[in-house]
Parts: sequence; structure tokens; C-alpha cells
Amino acid sequence: MASDARPRALSGIQPTAGSFHLGNYLGAIRQYVALQESHDAFYMVVDLHAITVPQDPAELRANTRFAAAQLLAAGLDPERCTLFVQSHVPEHAQLGWVMNCLTGFGEASRMTQFKDKSAKHGADRATVGLFTYPILQVADILLYQATHVPVGEDQRQHIELTRDLAERFNGRFGDTFTVPAPYIVKETGKIYDLQDPTIKMSKSASTPKGLINLLDDPKVTAKKVKSAVTDTDTVIRFDPENKAGVSNLLTIMATLTDTSVADLEKSYEGKMYGALKTDLAEVMVDFVTPFRARTQEYLDDPETLDSILAKGAEKARAVAAETLAQTYEKIGFLPAKH
Ligand code: TRP
Repeated sequence: MASDARPRALSGIQPTAGSFHLGNYLGAIRQYVALQESHDAFYMVVDLHAITVPQDPAELRANTRFAAAQLLAAGLDPERCTLFVQSHVPEHAQLGWVMNCLTGFGEASRMTQFKDKSAKHGADRATVGLFTYPILQVADILLYQATHVPVGEDQRQHIELTRDLAERFNGRFGDTFTVPAPYIVKETGKIYDLQDPTIKMSKSASTPKGLINLLDDPKVTAKKVKSAVTDTDTVIRFDPENKAGVSNLLTIMATLTDTSVADLEKSYEGKMYGALKTDLAEVMVDFVTPFRARTQEYLDDPETLDSILAKGAEKARAVAAETLAQTYEKIGFLPAKH
């Protein structure tokens, strides 16, 4: 296969919200789309991770299709990459167990995402699954021998854990896993809340006005952009420390229009914040309008969508099964007689 010559990229995205938000798109999905040209790329909807917090079954099922439809609408091409659903490939849970047995309890306890999330859900409501969440993520990555893992800045610690466990396994049992690197695009790694530009844009936003959902009515999106928080100064300048709101708008504008922030600063010299907001609102509307239409097309034809995912799972399994077999052998599991 020609694709084998390319470096391998892998990433996963949770099916826990109906609509992806702008932070998901600029921080991760845009990189997914770009990487499918240069890399043998595997992308999955991580439903096993989703159930680390309570999910309604019907909603989970719908959101899984929703997530896949949006990834396709954003530009993932099933001919150029492998798109699949995590639970369709049983090797994730299987390698996850092996990785659990390789991770120190203290090591897992240091994962900050668990601390944050368990605090939010209440310490005694947090499940063991939530605790071992990063270890399942390690398995996701190692199964595919990925070299590049495009993620947002918040996932850096999980990639570090992946590297540690890959090296530990290789050291103990002999070379088995590729040690991956994070692939975090600096400028767009973090998009901030429009109403509170000191916090990351996320589903659990300060107020709905701080969050841009890609599937929102474009009119709502335009309004949110226009009411974004800025500052009492008037100069359009990139200065995240003192001008967090304006800097965030510049980052979003630069990324969506493939322009540099420096060029934007120049073209907005002498102009008011309102001009930047109006232009950005227009750029956003032009972006989300076709995105929504394409997503809807996939959702209207679940049969086609499900067959794309079935083909993806088949391609993924071929790789995952081979890695798991090698792992089982190295560990000393007795092969089942056929
Ligand atoms: N934890 C990631 C997130 O919340 C999702 C994820 C699961 C992932 N498995 C992965 C990302 C493997 C990269 C590689 O964003």
C-alpha cells in the first residue's frame, strides 16, 4: 500500500455534544483535514471515552453519527483517511487493559483532567473509567503506531503519558510501540470564550454567548461575534496578555482566512473594533453556512454514513489487530489454538 510510506497521524474526538464548537474546529479538526494530505491518518469518534461520564443511550448513538457527519462536513475524506467509531474496534478496550496494568496508580493520579472533571461531577460520582480515561487514550494511540497526534494544548499531558508507557513497554518487553509526538499548532491551539477570553472556549462556557457552535443558526453566530468582549482601548493589536478579547478575534480571523495576524494588524490600522467584528462575523457566516448544509446531508442519509464508518472500522481493525497480537505475544499470553 502506498499509504504505508507516509507518517501516521491519529486523533480522537468525543461525541458528547451535538454540535462541535469553533474551538474544536480551529484547535483540532482543521489540523485533521490538513494532515490527511501528508499523513496516513486515522480519526475516530471516541464513544468509549464518552461513557466515562453518564450518557443517555439514544443521545450517545445520535451524537456519534452527529460527530462523524461533522467531521466529514469539515473535509475529512474517507478515501484519504480512516474515519471510524472507537467501539467498532474492540482492540481499544483490550489494549487499554494491558496499559492499565502498566500504569502506576500515582502516575494516573497526577492526570489533571481527572482532577478537573471529578471535581465538576462530584468526587464520589466520578467513575474508575474516568480515572483511567487517559490510559484508554494511550491504547488508542499506540494501537496504530501513530507518530503524530494532533490535539489541543489541553491534551499534552495525555500524550506525555503515552510516550512514557510506550517507552516502558518497549523497555520491558522489547520494541513494540512507536513513541508518538504531540502535534499542537501553537497559534490555533487555543481559542478562547468570546465573553470571557481568559478561559478556553468549551461546551461548558461562561454563558452561551461565549461559545460558537458550528451548527448554530448563522445569524446567532454573527450576533455572538459582534457582541464579543474586547477592552476600553481602541487599537487592534495582538497582545493576549493585555488585550485578550481582541487577540482572540484576531486569531480566529487569521486562521479562518489563512492570513497572518501581523497582516491583519496592518489592514486594521486606524480602524475600530466594530470593523473587525463585522468582518469576522461575515467570515464566520460564510464558513458555517455550507458546513451546516453538508452535515445535514450526511444526517439525512444515515445508511451511507454508517457504511463509511463500517469501512473505516474495517481498515482500522486490520492495523489494531496486528498491534494487539504482537503485544499479547510479548507479554506472554498463551496463544489460543485455532
Ligand atoms: N481525550 C481527547 C480529548 O478529549 C480525545 C481522545 C481520545 C484522543 N482518544 C484520543 C485524542 C487519541 C487523540 C488521540 O480531546
